[in-house]
Amino acid sequence: MKNLMNITDLTVEEIDELIAVAEDIIANPEKYQDACRHKLLATLFFEPSTRTRLSFESAMHRLGGAVVGFSEAGSSSSAKGESLSDTVQTVGCYADIIAMRHPKEGAPVVAARRAGVPIINAGDGAHNHPTQTLTDLLTIWRAKKRLNNLTIGLCGDLKFGRTVHSLVGAMARYSGIKFVFIAPEELKFPRYIIEDELESRGIEYKEVSTMEEAMPELDILYMTRVQKERFFNEADYIRLKDTYILTPDKLVPAKKDLAIMHPLPRVNEISVAVDDDPRAMYFPQAKNGMFIRMALILKMLEVKV
Ligand code: NCD
Repeated sequence: MKNLMNITDLTVEEIDELIAVAEDIIANPEKYQDACRHKLLATLFFEPSTRTRLSFESAMHRLGGAVVGFSEAGSSSSAKGESLSDTVQTVGCYADIIAMRHPKEGAPVVAARRAGVPIINAGDGAHNHPTQTLTDLLTIWRAKKRLNNLTIGLCGDLKFGRTVHSLVGAMARYSGIKFVFIAPEELKFPRYIIEDELESRGIEYKEVSTMEEAMPELDILYMTRVQKERFFNEADYIRLKDTYILTPDKLVPAKKDLAIMHPLPRVNEISVAVDDDPRAMYFPQAKNGMFIRMALILKMLEVKV
């Protein structure tokens, strides 16, 4: 596989394989500690990030490789007016693999044309976030021991949240999946994804506006942050930002084995009082992100362990 732009660039079999490798890494980390010796990862982040960038970098270090990169566009030559294509073509001269995040949808596709080395989309605008989805799939797998027969509630900013766009694309390929979209009218899940991924395959879904309506039937509750940076005016953001706040009392009717997920960062949408609930999976989820990115780097660099 040359590049990872979208989660659907990977087949279901390839995803299963990545999960199996991640599980082996978790069980036998020492086996992998020199796997990427003398390999170099570049992280080009034109947008803020904590987990994605640091988990990519930790992943490469834990594979014995090295890392270069920037975490602010302002510190790269794009501040001087250099095109993305030229920046990436240059970095491709130095690194063996590039993970990049960019505020513009489709930017990684443009970058991949000139990079000369594999490119991983680490989030492009409100579009896709395939490595978050790999993280989410590993988390669901570890919590449930299956990726089929699940009712998945997605709550919050379903319009601008790229993580949920990619997650639906991935989960729609497993059997017995039902989606419940929980969002206010203004932040509803995009129609084009519903048509392309769900209606075309006859996958069951419903759209509701409160958490209460959905809670009792959910196996997974995937909370999201209202994506402040994608709003055109602040008044709308302020009006919508606290639409959903998950608190312990809202979990009373939930299943005992519900998995509560969130890609993080959280703002207000999950009360810290939920953190000690054994169903809260969002910090283990962040940790899983490092292991699955280790598996992905091995696959993309074609390193056999
Ligand atoms: C998400 C992102 O960047 O899209 N964060 C992440 O990668 N873990 C979610 C978000 O920013 O809300």
